[in-house]
Amino acid sequence: MCGIVGVLGKHEVAPILVEALKRLEYRGYDSAGIATVNDGVLDRRRAVGKLVNLSDLLVHEPLTGKTGIGHTRWATHGAPTVANAHPHQSGSVAVVHNGIIENYRELRAELAECGVNFQTDTDSETVALLTERYRRAGETPVEAAFHAIDRLKGAFALAFLFEGEEDLIIAARKGSPLAIGHGDGEMFVGSDAIALAPLTDKVTYLEEGDRAVVTRAGVRIFDESSTPVSRPMKTIQVDRVSIDKAGHKHFMAKEIAEQPAVVGEAIAHYLPAGDDTVRLPGEGIDFSGVSRLVLVACGTAYYACLTAKYWFEQIARLPVEVDVASEFRYREPPVPAGTVALFVSQSGETADTLAALRYCRGKAEKILSVVNVPESSIARESDLALPIHAGVEVGVASTKAFTCQLTVLLILALKAAADRGQINAETLADHIAAIRGLPQLMNVALDDGETVRRAAQWLADTRDVLFLGRGMMYPLALEGALKLKEISYIHAEAYASGELKHGPIALIDPTMPVVVLAPMDPLFDKTVSNMQEVMARKGKVLLISDEAGLETARDGVWVTVKMPDVAPLLSPILYALPAQLLAYHTAVAKGTDVDQPRNLAKSVTVE
Ligand code: AGP
Repeated sequence: MCGIVGVLGKHEVAPILVEALKRLEYRGYDSAGIATVNDGVLDRRRAVGKLVNLSDLLVHEPLTGKTGIGHTRWATHGAPTVANAHPHQSGSVAVVHNGIIENYRELRAELAECGVNFQTDTDSETVALLTERYRRAGETPVEAAFHAIDRLKGAFALAFLFEGEEDLIIAARKGSPLAIGHGDGEMFVGSDAIALAPLTDKVTYLEEGDRAVVTRAGVRIFDESSTPVSRPMKTIQVDRVSIDKAGHKHFMAKEIAEQPAVVGEAIAHYLPAGDDTVRLPGEGIDFSGVSRLVLVACGTAYYACLTAKYWFEQIARLPVEVDVASEFRYREPPVPAGTVALFVSQSGETADTLAALRYCRGKAEKILSVVNVPESSIARESDLALPIHAGVEVGVASTKAFTCQLTVLLILALKAAADRGQINAETLADHIAAIRGLPQLMNVALDDGETVRRAAQWLADTRDVLFLGRGMMYPLALEGALKLKEISYIHAEAYASGELKHGPIALIDPTMPVVVLAPMDPLFDKTVSNMQEVMARKGKVLLISDEAGLETARDGVWVTVKMPDVAPLLSPILYALPAQLLAYHTAVAKGTDVDQPRNLAKSVTVE
């Protein structure tokens, strides 16, 4: 989960590289660096920490040249230090890398036997050292780079720069995404289209195993066997407006606030106005012949899948298996006939999820994906990709993507229910009407953020927090715990509230707040009983419910947050908002880095 960029430009590239890296910083921000070739001389600047540190360095130690590569890092091998920062250089070669070279120890041992000295603890340095070794053996830059690439095992997106070569960047892709941008007399390389958006909207995506020889005249692409291939050039619709906070203090705050609008956008795409039917892109899918659905994802997207399981099973009566992507394929699960596999991913580049999709290729009847980046690897390798229309999500903690994922999954579950004859047209129309009212309810829920903000002040001083939910509020409790821990660094756990008495209740004491997510639904009374078990042991409960629920259960509760009434099916989407706001305000109160929390990256493109 690093970001790489390359420019063969008409102007000084250092500022262009830094600007592109800013748009890639969501992929990792432990360190950053650029390298350029100017008058044949290869040079580089690198800095630890956020990209602004590299910008500062370039003010004092500028780099010139119209040819360059850049990198923003999320450390996989070797601590975040200047020495371990990319670009890695060995003699006449500089390289930037995203991914993991799995055979780097073997290659380092081979290089050590040749007397090579290592400057870093990284796997990536091996690529530069190997390439330089082949250059010294008389191979051309292209031959040396391709030779080094052929030696690598694992996942990599690479860009190479060579001393004396001011019109050449070599790029390669295996397991990690890489795009070639086409300019007017300029050419670009980038981890994704977002990085290239201000530079061009004409993009060629490299396929698995591809390598590319890029010059200002264009690009020559070769497959893994170095046979020339052609890949289509696409015009991308990435948000070309510079990504900004629109007056909010953090991207996360902006993206929480955007949810009524973007959920409305998703609804409009799948539920055309004036028509009570579901409209899917492409040839869609008919669930009437589907006997089983497998949902696979990571993190927040996984919690969206856990929620969707309730919808598909309760409304469509379709058996659903859900698993985290990092476990799924290593379980080697059977994929019987009639199974459809669906992968949920905001970035569409999560390595574990992509690997799980590839496990299902050739086994499942159909591969579906629910993604926020239609040009992403997961989307391109699906039979049917369902965009969530959330717009670019910059905050590392996923918010608007989560509610848009849920919205699309709910609509898909309704389609499945209709296809399988489990609901009639009238019931479908009723559910669609309820969904159409969701954006307005979200606006109401976001209006009353003050109570949550006050509660967050107290949470900020706690060490541990529990989240409880029953039924389809249980996956939301898991998501609420994840949001809190990943941006405030407070330890938080979630349990199905009925599970508390089977052990976790031993944790309850006055110092541990318990957040209970409980709309007045058929399981409300059960949840209230569990909540009272907590209060009987002096536990402090923060109850998030609707008016009827609060009227029934407010006695003895520490803090209550009132939500608008909502159809039970929609409650996980609506109740995501206070869970997000609670995490956000707690993190702000603690002063942590809300948009770029420590140790994290937005897109986990390594296993
Ligand atoms: C969510 O807040 C986290 N940043 C993380 O769990 C994320 O959901 C997970 O890495 C999956 O990412 P994806 O949706 O891009 O595949």
